[in-house]
This record gives sequence, C-alpha cells and structure tokens, in this order.
Amino acid sequence: MKFRRVKGTRDVLPREAAARRELEEKVFELLAPAGFHPVLTPTFEHYELYKRSTGESSDIVIKEMYRFQDMGGRDLALRPEGTPSVMRAVLENSIKLPARLWYVMPMFRQDKPQKGRYREHTQIGAEIIGEGDPQIDAELVKIGFDLFTSIGIHEMFIELNSIGCRECRPGYIKKLKDFLVQHADELCDDCRLRAERNPLRVFDCKQKSCQRILSDAPLQTDYLCPGCADHFSQVKAGLDIFQIPYEENPRLVRGLDYYSRTVVEFKSRELGAQDTVCGGGRYDYLMQEMGGPATPAIGFAFGVERALLASRGEDVFSSVQPGIPLLLLPLGDKAKPYCLDLLFKLREKGIGVQAEFRSGGLSRQLKRADSRNAEKVLIVGDKEIESGSFIVRDMGTGEQEELTFDELISGLVNT
Ligand code: HAM
Repeated sequence: MKFRRVKGTRDVLPREAAARRELEEKVFELLAPAGFHPVLTPTFEHYELYKRSTGESSDIVIKEMYRFQDMGGRDLALRPEGTPSVMRAVLENSIKLPARLWYVMPMFRQDKPQKGRYREHTQIGAEIIGEGDPQIDAELVKIGFDLFTSIGIHEMFIELNSIGCRECRPGYIKKLKDFLVQHADELCDDCRLRAERNPLRVFDCKQKSCQRILSDAPLQTDYLCPGCADHFSQVKAGLDIFQIPYEENPRLVRGLDYYSRTVVEFKSRELGAQDTVCGGGRYDYLMQEMGGPATPAIGFAFGVERALLASRGEDVFSSVQPGIPLLLLPLGDKAKPYCLDLLFKLREKGIGVQAEFRSGGLSRQLKRADSRNAEKVLIVGDKEIESGSFIVRDMGTGEQEELTFDELISGLVNT
C-alpha cells in the first residue's frame, strides 16, 4: 500500500524549509527590538476556548475545526488560530502586562484546499497585550509593513477599517440588519443566514449579486462613536507619519468574532483568490470575555506559506534539491581518507562541502557531481596530494583553477 498525505496537508521540502528559516530570522530581527518575546502554546486546547473566543458565529468554529474527543472524554480541538491560546496562556501563567509576544505555530482548519489555503498551515503572529493607544495600532502596522517590504511581498497593499466598539456597533448592526431584511430575497442563502447570526459577515460574501446589493449597505465607519472615530483618525495619522500607503476599506470586517475598532489586512495582488497574507486587529474585549480583567490588545498573524508564495513564487515549494556548494572528488583509494579529513577542515572554515566517495574515474565523478547539483568540485588525486595544489572546477561555467591549500581555503571562504 502506498501512503499519501492527508488532503490539504503539505510536506515542507528542503528548499521551502530554508526559506522558512530565513523568514523567521527576519521576523526575529524586526520583532526583538520592539520588545516581542517568543511563546509557544499547545497544539490542542479545549474546544470551548475557540468557541468562546474565535466565536460561535465564525466560519472557523462553525465548519472548520478539527474537533475530537480524547480517551478521557475531553472535548478538544486542534488549534485553528493563535490568538485565543496566547491569551489563555497569558491569563493562566499570570504574565505581567503589558506584554508583547510572538509565535510560529502550525494551525489547523478543515477548509476547502486550494492555492494558499491548506488544512494545516503555519502562522507567524505578534500580539501586543495591555496597550490600547491608537499609536500602538500604527506601530504594529508599521512593523508589518517593514516586514513584508523587507521580504519582498509582490504587489502588496494594505486595507484598513474600524469596526467600532460596544458603544457604536449594536446601533450600526441594527441598521445593517434592517437593510439585509429589506433585501433578503436578493441575497444568497449563506448571506440570509449571516444576516441572522452575524450580519457583519455578509461583507465577506464573494457572490457578485450579493456584492452589488451590499454596495448600498450602511457602513460602520459612518456610525462610529466619537471615541472610535477619534481612535481611527489617530491610527491613520500615525500611518501618515511613516507614509505607509493604505486603502480604507469600509467593508473589511475580518472573519473572527473578537475584533473591535482597528482591523487591518496585508494583501498581495499576486496570490489570486486567497490574497490575504496577513490579518489582524484590535481585540479589546477578548481577555475580559475569557474571564480576565478588561485589557486592550492588538495583533496580527500571517500565513508562512502565503508569504513565501507572494514573495518567492511557487518555485519555493519545488522538490528540486538545493545544490552542493562544493563537492570533493577523490580519485583513487589514497585520496579517500585524505578527503575525509579535508571535509572537516573545510567545514571548520564554514564552507558547505560534501565528498563523493563512490569509486570512479574523473569523467564518471564529474557526471555524478553534475547530477548532485554541485556548484564547484575539488579534484583530489595522488598528484594533487603530493604537490599540495588542487584543481577547483566551476560546474556552471566549466572554468578550472589550480590553487594551493591556503589559496583554496581563503578563496572559498570569500566566495
Ligand atoms: P486569520 O486572518 O484567520 O487571522 O489568519 C491569519 C493569516 O493566516 C491569513 O491572513 C493567512 O495568511 C493565513 N491563513 C489562514 N487560514 C489559512 C489556510 N487555511 N491556509 C493557509 N494560510 C492560512 C487569525 O488567525 C488571527 N488570529 C490573526 C490575529 C492575531 N488577530 C489578532 N492577532
């Protein structure tokens, strides 16, 4: 029987694994000076945690959770997103606030797989817990902007909105609901259901007919209370300081239930249907809803796979093995132990090197080097060992150079 991976899951192959490491290093370089510390939370939690925080009316909880019972009869779920478990960890471990935490963790959602959407994906997230000023929102968006600019997300744009607070949202929701009821006959089945359960979510509908009707729907930004309106304009003023380009999208609502005030998405026009690289926003009520003290918070998270797709293209997922920077080609039995020793001398200098220990003449060895994708080879025969000078061949251009051991080391270290 031939095993296949489960639908919607992926194997991370060496080329992508290397790109992920680089990405994580860049994130670390940007987040550490801003005071973020790494955290990790368990891969599974009590189902109730997500039901209460991600939200009963979110698509994630309604239809995408990997929910299961363990042998002890506990109702559990694989983590679909990081924010609830990070907040639980902050509460449970009495982490002193304000706190800035970041994570790289796998997430699980049983959604329909397509390009950029998988049933297991990795998110890198950053959460600022205990800071409520609008400058913090601007600071976080600036961090995201710098990060995605530095990794080279193609055709990036930022969408920003305010979805109000407990003061102004109920009044707006009522207006939106009234509008949806008036147009119920023209809406799709999903939107009719959303109109009852969570009207804001209608703005996520991709159906053209619904979008046409919703172009006349009342918008939250026209009904913000003075506090939210002021907060939003200060966030925008903060972004203007950095001259960060953004588009106000009054229909941006985000698919999770805990958001309030600022919501933001970083998108790429290169990604197709799943074009959101990063999403986030304020969640000032979540900690209280989870049984803690009233605590403002804001964060974002991005999908590593989407970030790689949008910055490096699909090549980064290819199964082509990365090349070997330098391959030693021993010719003859005396050369083999010599090369074994040489391997470690070169590695000590930080040179990436392997040896081709299978026996064979020069042309056979060169063929092997070619199929192993060697960038350079070092030919080591009896003559070279005796004279202490070696031939280095560039496999791309075919150029050869004769170098002494010292020249070899310094030349390779500099390349
Ligand atoms: P989210 O928008 O659900 O937000 O997910 C964040 C990012 O994860 C998305 O923008 C996308 O890049 C990636 N992503 C989500 N689902 C998938 C999938 N099925 N396959 C591949 N990538 C995916 C959150 O999860 C919030 N916790 C973000 C946040 C942090 N808000 C405040 N703090």
